Amino acid sequence: MSSVTRARMYQAIIVVLLLVIAAMAYKFIVLGSTERVDDRRVAVVLEPGDRALMLSEMRAFVAGLQQITDALSHEDMKSVAKAARAMGTPRSHDVPLALMAKLPLEFKALALGVHGGFDTLATDAEAVGKPAHTLAQLSGILQKCVACHASYEVKDTRAP
Ligand code: HEC
Repeated sequence: MSSVTRARMYQAIIVVLLLVIAAMAYKFIVLGSTERVDDRRVAVVLEPGDRALMLSEMRAFVAGLQQITDALSHEDMKSVAKAARAMGTPRSHDVPLALMAKLPLEFKALALGVHGGFDTLATDAEAVGKPAHTLAQLSGILQKCVACHASYEVKDTRAP
């Protein structure tokens, strides 16, 4: 085989590999594991354990929101910050990579928006210390909860 032919062959192999990588990135980063459901939401299809993990994280959000609103009613901004920080970005680092790959890009963006929103809320609760400001930030975060729930449901891989 001439060196020109060999170089062409290597180039072709590299192109094919790049295409495979691009297709995998599109699948795992952008699409995730999803299907459409009747009420027009997109179903994220997860293993039972991953689904349970996600739903328990959701219930933790409600528990955290309860702590924030209670602390806010006492203007206890230190406790507001503490509860918000527990729902901040570091929390998202607990999500296993295999689960992350099944989440569509928009879903991940909304989830990170919520975690990031709690980071900012915590910082401002201490630095600004105005309950009305915190409430407005909370409302912004809740809009993201609402937006995600309007677009997605989570389906068990075992469900028909
Ligand atoms: C990125 C998307 C997303 C965001 C952001 C999000 N959720 Fe969810 N949540 C879901 C999905 C999907 C479900 C499952 C709904 C279904 O299958 O019908 C769910 C379910 C829930 C449930 C039900 C839990 C259970 O045990 O069944 C609660 C409560 C909940 N979310 C609260 C919240 C709160 C509060 C926020 C905001 C602080 C929030 N969620 C933000 C996607 C999201």
